[in-house]
Amino acid sequence: MVLSENTLPIFNGNWEYQWAPYDLPTYQAVLEQLQPDDVVLDIGAGDLRLARQMAGIVRKVYSIEINPEILAQGLEKDEPLPGNLITICGDAQTMDFPPEITIGVLLMRHCTHFTEYANKLKDIGCQRIITNARWRMSVETVDLLAPRIKFEQVKIGSYACWCGAVGFIQGPLELLTPENNAIIHEVIDCPNCLHHKSKN
Ligand SMILES: C[S@@+](CC[C@H](N)C(=O)[O-])C[C@H]1O[C@@H](n2cnc3c(N)ncnc32)[C@H](O)[C@@H]1O
Repeated sequence: MVLSENTLPIFNGNWEYQWAPYDLPTYQAVLEQLQPDDVVLDIGAGDLRLARQMAGIVRKVYSIEINPEILAQGLEKDEPLPGNLITICGDAQTMDFPPEITIGVLLMRHCTHFTEYANKLKDIGCQRIITNARWRMSVETVDLLAPRIKFEQVKIGSYACWCGAVGFIQGPLELLTPENNAIIHEVIDCPNCLHHKSKN
């Protein structure tokens, strides 16, 4: 498939649609979280290198990739596409997600749409997403049904917000028990959210 720049104005200068693979430990961290019964939604699948591996572990993989050139590279590889891997060339932000998804995979460190994807997955009853979109250099599995508390309720410790912000809230050191230190508090209304609300 050959596409000229004129046929793809959407990609001009949009760094979110750039493809770059991750390293093997990153992919391994994803593969270790999958169960045989899972139906995966791979958001921003690139050249399908992870999708092909996931298809060997789980029941089904849906891979969405917006860039047809990258997807074509993945489809043109020598090994045939696994029968349980469904590829979709489209925009994950606007397309409907298949209702049977049990787990989302979002390997896109620069992603600024975590909230949208988390909400869309939750709306179809999906409970988990594996992603590096928030902590960037490491992969986490987010429980989309876990209670989220107000930012101001965290006395001390690490936090992560669906807007993508993460950090450490300072407070009384005596409250930083090993148990508390091991928790990442899922919050709403973090300073980043409030900053953006105040601008709109
Ligand atoms: C950093 S690459 C990672 C590719 C793949 N997840 C991997 O780990 O090998 C991110 C990919 O997401 C795709 N992408 C970005 N926004 C997208 C969207 N809204 N819908 C579908 N794909 C998207 C890009 O085109 C790019 O190929």
